[in-house]
Amino acid sequence: MARKFIMSYSDSLVKRISSKDAKICVVGLGQVGLPTALTFCESGFDVIGHDINKDLLEKLNSGISPFKESSLEGLLETNVKTNRFHTENHIVKAVENSDIIIVCVPTPITEDARPDLTSLSSVCDSLSQISLKGKMVIIESSIPPGTFERLVFTALNKKNHVGTDCWAVFVPERLAPGQAITEIRTTPRVIGCIDEDSGLIAKSLYEKIVDSEILVTSIKVAEISKLVENTFRDVNVALANEVGLICEKYGIDVKELLNICNSHPRVNLLHPGPGVGGPCLPKDPYLLLNPEGSDPIQSKIILEARKINDYMPIHVIDLISNAIKEQNKRLEEATITVLGVAYKANVSDTRFSPSKEIITNLVKKGCSVFVHDPLTKENFGGQTVSDLWNAVSQSDILVIVTDHDEFKKFDLEKIQKTMKVPTIIDTRRIFDRKEAENLGIKYLAIGYTKKPKHK
Ligand SMILES: NC(=O)c1ccc[n+]([C@@H]2O[C@H](COP(=O)([O-])OP(=O)(O)OC[C@H]3O[C@@H](n4cnc5c(N)ncnc54)[C@H](O)[C@@H]3O)[C@@H](O)[C@H]2O)c1
Repeated sequence: MARKFIMSYSDSLVKRISSKDAKICVVGLGQVGLPTALTFCESGFDVIGHDINKDLLEKLNSGISPFKESSLEGLLETNVKTNRFHTENHIVKAVENSDIIIVCVPTPITEDARPDLTSLSSVCDSLSQISLKGKMVIIESSIPPGTFERLVFTALNKKNHVGTDCWAVFVPERLAPGQAITEIRTTPRVIGCIDEDSGLIAKSLYEKIVDSEILVTSIKVAEISKLVENTFRDVNVALANEVGLICEKYGIDVKELLNICNSHPRVNLLHPGPGVGGPCLPKDPYLLLNPEGSDPIQSKIILEARKINDYMPIHVIDLISNAIKEQNKRLEEATITVLGVAYKANVSDTRFSPSKEIITNLVKKGCSVFVHDPLTKENFGGQTVSDLWNAVSQSDILVIVTDHDEFKKFDLEKIQKTMKVPTIIDTRRIFDRKEAENLGIKYLAIGYTKKPKHK
């Protein structure tokens, strides 16, 4: 019945989507919103971008990409030039001139790890005051379970009737920064809906950009699935980190251990690292455990995993302190060069980056900290270096926190020759340990400190 209604409605949204005449408005032009907007442009849709950050809109209008993301710059330049993508300061105007509104605003957590839905509430508040007749609202932001029904659905239903005169779905974004443009197209997409029509319309839209499976499910399953995916990864990283810490106690190399363990057909352990950062993994487990409108859910393993991952930067500082002591120096006298500020390889994003904790604590302890990251100007209170090798020559320890491709090309022999007491703490295992040790470099890593405490 519902399906018939859509197909027979001559000016239906499905038809406008099919002919790509439907106008799309993306609200929130960050790491998710901008790649999403430009992907729809590339597919032939006109997109209006709205954001509360006016400086960002100005930058975008000039075709300047606000962050580093593979192939984004070119897409932005082209689509601004052709006017396929343009921005609009006022949300009401942007929405009124669109058929489809895709919301990609941030959903962070507060200091006490509770969901902060301020941005989403503000957008919903605006949408609640606009007639959405014939339009579809899509929420792509990650949200605590229950948020769609309690916040979004309630707001949209104030002036409209979702399912008859407008439509709404939750379509969680699953992209990884750095590969956003590719992953929007290649990762299977999940559509959560309350009514069948909304699901059908949204599916017809995402079919235009996704070359993979599109799974339609209930709102609740879609909400929870997104958060469970990231929690799965966070817990697995925590296990890897814990295994790394155990290896240090036993005085073995975690890398060697993983080679052995992962040869088992049903074992696939990750590598330990300096901590978990980025816009999703450190906060999505908390969104999962804090349903909208209900009491928090207790989960020992998820919260413990968060604690382990949060502890890892402190552990890196301990490794640094011990290595400095071994050089018969005090931290206050030490000079450290940190390679990498971004939270992961080849991106400029520094949100929740382990580098923050590491650099700020070292600076607090009186260390001189040189910082080098080719992809971001952020230095978290350290001193950005202009001449890296000069900084390395003055440093007691070289600490690798981010595994940018550029760092992997560094010549160990040059490091050995440049440093007074060549010492590397390679938290991402970008260098070959044996090669470093053969050159006489003191090489330390998470899961490799060569100091057995248990015999
Ligand atoms: N970044 C990722 O890799 C990623 C991946 C999957 C899902 N997500 C989720 O997607 C959502 C967006 O994340 P992001 O990384 O793109 O955030 P972001 O901080 O990079 O971008 C959000 C943008 O929204 C704008 N904004 C904030 N409040 C607004 C408002 N009221 N109206 C209009 N614009 C507003 C901000 O100015 C900013 O430009 C979050 O829920 C996040 O958890 C992010």
